[in-house]
Amino acid sequence: MKIFLDTANVVEIRAAAQLGLVDGVTTNPSLIAKEGTTFKERIKEICSVVSGDVSAETIATDWEGMVREGRELATWAPNVVVKAPCTPDGLRATRVLAEAGIKVNVTLIFSATQGLLACKNGAYIISPFVGRLDDIGLDGMELVRDLVQFCEIYDFPTQVLAASIRTPNHVIAAAKAGAHIATMPASVFNTLYRHPLTDNGMSRFLSDWKTLPAYEEAIFPRQTSAPTAR
Ligand code: G3P
Repeated sequence: MKIFLDTANVVEIRAAAQLGLVDGVTTNPSLIAKEGTTFKERIKEICSVVSGDVSAETIATDWEGMVREGRELATWAPNVVVKAPCTPDGLRATRVLAEAGIKVNVTLIFSATQGLLACKNGAYIISPFVGRLDDIGLDGMELVRDLVQFCEIYDFPTQVLAASIRTPNHVIAAAKAGAHIATMPASVFNTLYRHPLTDNGMSRFLSDWKTLPAYEEAIFPRQTSAPTAR
């Protein structure tokens, strides 16, 4: 499963990318608005930090406008993926953009039928919003499972991206569901590698190591002769 960061904050993206674990980035108008910079400048900056897919969302609500914006967004960097909402106009724009060879992430997917239609119209990625379905008492991950199954049964090349991920348990469930991608805020990403027992174990190992009499030498052992095989 690919890991994407769901943020437009370049400091967060750079920090996570240094671990070699960021396969892509998703943004949306709300995330861009938080950054106080221009849309184009920020998307280009993100695209220069990560080599994987970077989703940038269209703002128009009519299909012609989405196609026009999508064509423009696709010129900003080779790794831009155009985001379009799962509305009738968004689906129509997806078909047109896909036929022009532009990758589309169909977003705001809340039902299996929406996901199926987006796949049929050539979506490169579909984004079911797990957390927002959980928020209204539904099972967001069940939608991810259904969509992964559709892609397998019909051999759609579309990738299912579990979006609106709120917890590390969502990440585990997305991986179990076979999601191709999970996108998450940096706050969730940073919980994935942390464990208190790892921290405790490290401090115990290090304090025991320091009790060695030849502490310095143990760190920088002097090799007087070639090691002999036993
Ligand atoms: O990028 C879309 C999605 O991940 C938003 O998540 O937490 O606002 O529902 P959230």
